[in-house]
Amino acid sequence: MGSLTKAAQEGASAAVDWSDEAVIYVNGVRRVLPDGLAHLTLLQYLRDIGLRGTKLGCGEGGCGACTVMVSCYDQTTKKSQHYAINACLAPLYSLEGMHIITVEGIGDRQRGLHPVQERLAEAHGSQCGFCTPGFVMSMYALLRSSKHPPTEEQIEDSLAGNLCRCTGYRPIIDAFRVFAKTDDSLYTASPSENANGQAICPSTGKPCSCRNETEVSANESSTPCSVKSYLPCSYNEIDGNSYSEKELIFPPELQLRKFMPLKLNGFNGIRWYRPLKLEQLLHLRSCYPDAKLIIGNSEVGVETKFKNAQYKVMISVTHVPELHTLKVEEHGLHIGSAVRLAQLQKFLKNVIAERGSHETSSCHAILRQLKWFAGTQIRNVASVGGNICTASPISDLNPLWMATGANFQIIDVNNNVRTTAAKDFFLGYRKVDLKADEILLSVILPWTRPYEYVKEFKQAHRREDDIALVNAGMRMHITEAEGNWIVSDVSIVYGGVAAVPLTAAKTEKFLVGKKLDDGLLDETFNFLKEDIPLAENAPGGMVEFRSSLTLSFFFKFFLHVTHEMNIKGLWKVGLDAANMSAIQSYTDLFLLQHKVMNQWGKELPWDNQWFICQLCFRSLVRQNMLMTHQHPQITCMLLWC
Ligand SMILES: Cc1cc2nc3c(=O)[nH]c(=O)nc-3n(C[C@H](O)[C@H](O)[C@H](O)COP(=O)(O)OP(=O)(O)OC[C@H]3O[C@@H](n4cnc5c(N)ncnc54)[C@H](O)[C@@H]3O)c2cc1C
Ligand code: FES
Ligand code: FES
Repeated sequence: MGSLTKAAQEGASAAVDWSDEAVIYVNGVRRVLPDGLAHLTLLQYLRDIGLRGTKLGCGEGGCGACTVMVSCYDQTTKKSQHYAINACLAPLYSLEGMHIITVEGIGDRQRGLHPVQERLAEAHGSQCGFCTPGFVMSMYALLRSSKHPPTEEQIEDSLAGNLCRCTGYRPIIDAFRVFAKTDDSLYTASPSENANGQAICPSTGKPCSCRNETEVSANESSTPCSVKSYLPCSYNEIDGNSYSEKELIFPPELQLRKFMPLKLNGFNGIRWYRPLKLEQLLHLRSCYPDAKLIIGNSEVGVETKFKNAQYKVMISVTHVPELHTLKVEEHGLHIGSAVRLAQLQKFLKNVIAERGSHETSSCHAILRQLKWFAGTQIRNVASVGGNICTASPISDLNPLWMATGANFQIIDVNNNVRTTAAKDFFLGYRKVDLKADEILLSVILPWTRPYEYVKEFKQAHRREDDIALVNAGMRMHITEAEGNWIVSDVSIVYGGVAAVPLTAAKTEKFLVGKKLDDGLLDETFNFLKEDIPLAENAPGGMVEFRSSLTLSFFFKFFLHVTHEMNIKGLWKVGLDAANMSAIQSYTDLFLLQHKVMNQWGKELPWDNQWFICQLCFRSLVRQNMLMTHQHPQITCMLLWC
């Protein structure tokens, strides 16, 4: 609990001109938030003001029933940004200066349904309807935030944080597929002809009225099916007009609004601060050493709701620019601790596109791990620093920061900055190397060198939006000496096997200086078993399975490194070619299987579809992968493998 001495309160107040005026917009309507609501989440507030379309399901960010879209204005790019969040975890005052759009704000039966709502209804994607507003808002936020029509993969990604337990995902995905841009050639290629001279649609493969655009005469009324887009056709119940396609704009007042440092209160003496400068934050920290720093609230929100934690002073650091740095530097990347995971994903994609591939092996690994980190709504708010400082033993990123050789910059209330290696930062169960007067400032991620490979691993009960059973980060640097490839540096770190991310120290020592050879594997496994002992009664259970995962992760890593060397033509090893399929990514396989099913499957009778599915299924089983199938008949048969 924050220690609220009178002197401290005065100190914190004296330094800054705090404001208690909090304004948000909800569905285009301006709302001034009174003081005294610091204990409320956005969801509680929305439902209190009568917007009950946004549902309370799990209350902890896991089901997506409470999804809303928030929009804020980026003063640097001069553009508004839109993204989906879980209202159940968002502290009300954290939305100050933002526009919130709920399911009521996009369409209804009086004004006409929004195309997203209408598609879901038409495709029978709603049964109990409880999850439906969440799905609608996730899809809506994706469309509002995309400059171009999203891909099918992006649509599936955006729904990973939404659960439906009655209709099933098939009709939901089918409903939203019309908003996706798929293969351009399907829409632009000229139709071919069948034996009867009928045009064959390049998109569906069936006879249709497709024509090359130039062949379509001006007065021809039929629309080629390959260029038909989904047209909203819903109408309202008052005058029968169709949906107007008018979207709520970002409120001009919020574009011009100057942010103020905020100090507000809540029930039971809670205080909410929003500093705008690092010096204000450090000053608050010196006054309230026990105060909770808040960014996405995805850890703190769960602690206060379900673990009876009480924090009297909360400091929202979302508006402190020094904690939001994203910079490319000579020796690597500089990542501010308050950077949101979705921002990090975007940044890493750009860096990977711009830098040499040998420098970005760590970036690739972090980016791939983030794909399976929570759902979109959580990644849109959760921060790098929140994940690190929580020090969860199953954090998906901490083993990677350690394996990649990242450093953490820490600042104290007197502005002194020190640097510590990520591998030395985690001291015990949820205990880190941070004193009461310190905060995490940033992460420095070094570039990788030529022939240095980094790989991430995560195994959970299901692939999307689930916590890891075991995860890992691994890095190996190899150098050439007298015609041999030698392991010159290696880092192997596991999560989910101990109270802190665990380094396989003996294995690392054994590997350094060894010639890269498949004969190394057996001995390495023996060292790994010593390094990562899981007692029979280890917390989390499934001990045999988790132990075998630690070995199979390393096996996959070894395959990955050998494969990378193979494709460069540098090294050939005698590993069984069949094993190499284990290093194909889930996404590659998924897309392949999707293509196969789309091209052949639709034309085949049911049992042949099942046969094709079995083929895909087996190839995925070999790789410990979960498949979410595209076809309704078989969805239920494809379980965890
Ligand atoms: C539904 C759900 C799914 C999740 N899935 C995953 C997952 O797949 N993988 C995974 O690893 N985690 C997962 N998490 C955990 C969580 O989302 C992450 O740990 C997240 O990164 C926390 O960030 P935050 O900004 O929300 O933290 P907050 O809750 O805002 O803060 C967390 C803690 O960090 C401290 N803190 C934050 N910044 C600083 C700083 N600069 N200096 C000092 N202390 C600081 C805060 O005081 C607080 O104690 C999940 C959580 C939920 C609710
Ligand atoms: S209620 Fe389940 S995510 Fe918010
Ligand atoms: S329609 Fe019922 S849970 Fe989704």
